[in-house]
Amino acid sequence: MIDIPEFVNREKEKRELKAILSGRPNFVYFVYGPINSGKTALLMKVIEELPDDYVVFYINFRWRDVQTINDLIRVLFKVKRGKVSEETKEFIKEVLKGGVKVLHKLKGIPIPENMFDLLFRRADKVEDIFAYLEEYFEEIREEGYQPVLILDEMQTIKDVINATGQSVLKGLFNFLIGMTKERHLCHSLCATSDCLFIEDVYSNARLEGRAKYLLVDDFDRETAFRVYEEFGFEDKELVWDYIGGKIGDIISLFEEKKRGLNEKEALERMLKDQVAKLRDFLEAVEEGEKGKIRENEVKEALERLKEGEIQSVKIPRRVRRFLIEENIIFYNPVEGTVRPQSRLLWKAIKELV
Ligand SMILES: Nc1ncnc2c1ncn2[C@@H]1O[C@H](COP(=O)(O)OP(=O)(O)O)[C@@H](O)[C@H]1O
Ligand SMILES: [Mg+2]
Repeated sequence: MIDIPEFVNREKEKRELKAILSGRPNFVYFVYGPINSGKTALLMKVIEELPDDYVVFYINFRWRDVQTINDLIRVLFKVKRGKVSEETKEFIKEVLKGGVKVLHKLKGIPIPENMFDLLFRRADKVEDIFAYLEEYFEEIREEGYQPVLILDEMQTIKDVINATGQSVLKGLFNFLIGMTKERHLCHSLCATSDCLFIEDVYSNARLEGRAKYLLVDDFDRETAFRVYEEFGFEDKELVWDYIGGKIGDIISLFEEKKRGLNEKEALERMLKDQVAKLRDFLEAVEEGEKGKIRENEVKEALERLKEGEIQSVKIPRRVRRFLIEENIIFYNPVEGTVRPQSRLLWKAIKELV
């Protein structure tokens, strides 16, 4: 039996990302797309293939439940204990000596213990953190390297507030704008599947003309069929009908088949699970567990979504925001459209509503 292909397709997106990273940092980039479309995997692949003079800091806010500014600092930084220099300049030289290839795999920004304690104690002053990071990236540039900051699952920090009651996100984006558009020091990529989040920060953090978007969508039909081939799927029309081009679901199907189910059984099982989940969700809405939203409002919206991709204004704003936050629909802020988060969910909606 064939094993799972390690990485398929995405040539176009890879080229685009590499082109962005090869120039000077000019914009904050939002890497967006529906759940399980392969955003994180793509970023990892690109990091792996970057030349040696790039230093990549990959931070995934999913690693930890980030509720407070202290949680945020703990995710951002990776403390280096023991005998390390306390001067940023010297410290960075030491870090770089460790080999940039090693750094590519580093999750979190290395920081000397004493500096971490200092920043931590004064976590009420978020500016200190950004000032330190700015100095940090400057030093890396001076050593002849190009820093890249990747912030994944960005939406998970949307509610973090600092001691003065300010949104940390706003401070963070101001910092990222400084690093890109203003000082051209460090590439900034922010990945999220919650595009409501993008829209909210966009209007709050003066991002106009300072941010750009890169869509990592589920594969289109033609690409999906080629990918199915690599996964050894047999009835491609049937597979497309159930799961379309979502790589996460393609991998699920592969795993189900590996357990001995035939393709059709596996697809049916996946759909059954999805229908059950949607039923649970509707029940929770009905029981009032999901706040003020009413079941008939949700049902009306789902009725509309049977069409597939539609203009977002076709669903009332309040319901739309709710369904985006509940991961039922994917919102594309660039196109102004919404659609079910996956083809499987779309099929479940058509079956249940
Ligand atoms: N191009 C690809 N080739 C093979 N597997 C992939 C590819 N892209 C993503 N995957 C796998 O699909 C699943 C979902 O991808 P992930 O990157 O986590 O999605 P996202 O970050 O968009 O939610 C993961 O198991 C990942 O390893
Ligand atoms: Mg991801």
